[in-house]
Amino acid sequence: MNILVTGGCGFIGTNFIYYMLHEHDHTIINLDKLTYAGNLKNLISVEGRYNGQRYFFEKGDICDTPQVMNILKEYEIDAVVNFAAESHVDRSISAPDQFIESNIQGTYSLLTASSKAGIKRFIQVSTDEVYGSLGPEGLFTEESPLAPNSPYAASKASADLLCRSFFKTYGFPVIVTRCSNNYGPFQFPEKLVPLSFLRAKEDRPVPVYGTGSNVRDWIYVSDHCRGIDLCLRKGRPGAIYNFGGDAEYENLDVIKKILDIMGKSYKLIKFVKDRPGHDQRYAMDYSLAKDELGFEPQVRFSEGLELTINWYLKNEEWVDGIKSGEYIEFMEKWYKERS
Ligand code: NAD
Ligand code: DAU
Repeated sequence: MNILVTGGCGFIGTNFIYYMLHEHDHTIINLDKLTYAGNLKNLISVEGRYNGQRYFFEKGDICDTPQVMNILKEYEIDAVVNFAAESHVDRSISAPDQFIESNIQGTYSLLTASSKAGIKRFIQVSTDEVYGSLGPEGLFTEESPLAPNSPYAASKASADLLCRSFFKTYGFPVIVTRCSNNYGPFQFPEKLVPLSFLRAKEDRPVPVYGTGSNVRDWIYVSDHCRGIDLCLRKGRPGAIYNFGGDAEYENLDVIKKILDIMGKSYKLIKFVKDRPGHDQRYAMDYSLAKDELGFEPQVRFSEGLELTINWYLKNEEWVDGIKSGEYIEFMEKWYKERS
């Protein structure tokens, strides 16, 4: 099978490409715009081993329908997996425009080109954030109402609805996946796990938004990749599948676990102004994915955190490459405003 993976130079896309090339004999075409979050270096070893045979890179924007059409035809694509998006909630609060462009217009453009080209499988990689926020009890199911609270979440919910309309109106075989918080190798250090680890490593304050009582459900990235692979093979067209990690923790506890692994003092923890519209709690009922796809998360949170921290320790060069980019500037400004 020839699979177009969009956003393959980002965190989850990179992990997915490694996973698929290892697990199957598919050919992967990676279309990525290389925004601040996209890093060609993530795939150096893939390039070395598979380039021009089972792996091809195309720089480009999913909003560019003619380019997408050309790629679909040239590579005789069978299936599309759309990871390409602006993914950082804090950035969506500061500057939503690019989220509307890539996440909504981009998905629309990709759906249009893919349906015209008669693509047989289209996976839209979405998020639990489209459901909004939970109280202390309960889980999100696929039937939970859409109630996004950040511009990021609203853009992803809009894309999900476009997918629904392409299935209902044109019979286009779209599947939407909604996953909880991923962590693991190659995650851009603007997100909680790598950011806390890297700041603690340098004995810099580790920021906690608000009281730190917000709860996220954590899933190791390879478990998410396996879920998407299962969708490609067994997913029902038109379906939505939740994925979760069975690992609900308050943010403060996550940071403490990271500090414990590193042998660092809790004195590094610094409470800062809360994120506006901050969702209190996410938790997933993934029984549909379990029943229909045989999905179950395999990596426990403690194990996954150790794997992640060891990966960042071994890949200092990767981190140094990112630190020279614009991310430092954004994050420093963000924390200054909130301290
Ligand atoms: P990321 O920010 O690390 O990577 C996004 C990638 O998309 C980058 O390589 C970027 O260059 C590329 N990109 C952005 N706009 C593009 C465009 N217009 N055209 C082509 N490429 C473009 O994101 P991530 O954390 O890997 O998330 C990937 C997907 O998974 C996103 O759709 C996100 O909404 C979804 N998701 C993420 C999580 C999570 O915890 N990170 C959880 C659930 C769902
Ligand atoms: O739930 C899935 C979503 O998870 C994905 O759709 C998003 O793309 C992904 O970025 C992630 O969103 P979050 O906002 O949950 O992730 P983030 O790592 O930014 O924050 C996790 C929690 O930690 C959140 O409650 C905010 C808090 N936080 C975050 C940072 C970066 C802190 O307290 N301090 C921090 O420094």
